[in-house]
Amino acid sequence: MTGTGKRHFIKTFGCQMNVYDSERMAEALEMAGYAAADSPDVADLVVLNTCHIREKAAEKVYSELGRLNQIKQARAKGGLRTMIAVAGCVAQAEGREILARAPVVDLVVGPQSYHRLDDLLRRASTERGVIDVDFPEDDKFKHLPVRGAARRAPTAFLTVQEGCDKFCTFCVVPYTRGVEYSRPVREILEEAERLAHAGACELTLLGQNVNAYHGQGDDGEAWSLARLLRRLAEIPTIRRLRYTTSHPRDMGDDLIAVHGEEEKLMPYLHLPFQAGSDRILGAMNRKHTRNEYTELVRRIREARPDIALSTDIIVGFPGETDAEFAQTIELVEEVGFAQAYSFKYSARPGTPAETMDDQVPEDVKADRLRELQALLSAQQAAFNTSCVGRRFDVLFERHGRRPGQLVGRTPYLQAVHADAPDALIGRMIEVEISGAGPNSLEADILRSAESPDLARANG
Ligand code: SAH
Ligand code: SF4
Ligand code: F3S
Repeated sequence: MTGTGKRHFIKTFGCQMNVYDSERMAEALEMAGYAAADSPDVADLVVLNTCHIREKAAEKVYSELGRLNQIKQARAKGGLRTMIAVAGCVAQAEGREILARAPVVDLVVGPQSYHRLDDLLRRASTERGVIDVDFPEDDKFKHLPVRGAARRAPTAFLTVQEGCDKFCTFCVVPYTRGVEYSRPVREILEEAERLAHAGACELTLLGQNVNAYHGQGDDGEAWSLARLLRRLAEIPTIRRLRYTTSHPRDMGDDLIAVHGEEEKLMPYLHLPFQAGSDRILGAMNRKHTRNEYTELVRRIREARPDIALSTDIIVGFPGETDAEFAQTIELVEEVGFAQAYSFKYSARPGTPAETMDDQVPEDVKADRLRELQALLSAQQAAFNTSCVGRRFDVLFERHGRRPGQLVGRTPYLQAVHADAPDALIGRMIEVEISGAGPNSLEADILRSAESPDLARANG
């Protein structure tokens, strides 16, 4: 059904799983007759797809709702109705509280209920404050519309696993996303084929704990992520595979082996370790020690020597001493990361760490984060500089800021800018890296065997 004349605007916060969910929600809304709007000012429906991971992320939602309230009122003066929906992890975690704190909200919808969005919106148009934060037995993926061929991007996310059973003591994800669930193999293969058909040549498999994947195959067996990756690599037009986020505990031998054997699997791995001290890792309930982590890294590098690593780190977990923080610094120095995310510990409602003694003062956390980020930035800059003069295949994804410039990614996920014609968007092209900045690279296009028409495209 199309042609209701209505428009939707979705704003996404948080992780890649939310990016994926927003895309699926947009497709569901388009099926229900909503076109995409360029800004919330002209939208009949605004969805905030929210993140609850740290306090700052969750609070952003309320400042955003303040702005939307003004838009809603301005539009109402012109006789236009604006529906406002809060989706994602804040919706799941806070539920009804959102309606109390922000009466501008018409609908609160948790991450497992997106397939009911259209019905919920219909209800919300007549009822005040509709809420659906159920964890249904039935999975949403089966009921969301098939991913459309309207999509034309060269890269795509594909959620294969959701939820988490690890219960790290600082983390809200097991509460906002529920228990670990793996999508069946067939469903994933069908979605991957459709994405490939629509022009995607790079797939990033997503899960809060993606390497715990154990979805059921048609053979009745539980497939590991390794097996799934090998099967996806058989799709001819899929040229690159990635996956995120992994837990060190679930990094099995077979998965490490795929890194050494499957050329389409990119030599880049995001493997969070969170803290360098075993005592803190224990208090975090991370289920791995520092040595287990470094041993894992050694084995991964043995399988794939050129692999680049990325990680997540928390500073100032309750009780973390200066000496324990120093162990985090040492571990970063020992491993060496191409890229990393680091955060000040943020106490989250309902998590075990929230009520632990010895919460670390804000200024101490800030100092530690500054020291850590200086080291991580230096490592990233050194890695980027080491790429200058090297040749890589780059998958060009979109226009850059300057006219005539395209942006793509190296196998190591670094952003690359190059002067290149539009015809190269969606193509894998060999480049030579000519310059490196802290967060991105510059490159010159080389002729490529894969693109015989490149000379023509270059004019
Ligand atoms: N599933 C992934 C990451 C989930 S959240 C994993 O297990 O690694 C992404 C990152 O946010 C985490 O890796 C952690 O570094 C950070 N994070 C999660 N909860 C946090 C909190 N309460 N305070 C600060 N950082 C947090
Ligand atoms: Fe959160 Fe830990 Fe699960 Fe990652 S593994 S999502 S940090 S509980
Ligand atoms: Fe945030 Fe939820 Fe992702 S809390 S990080 S949006 S799983």
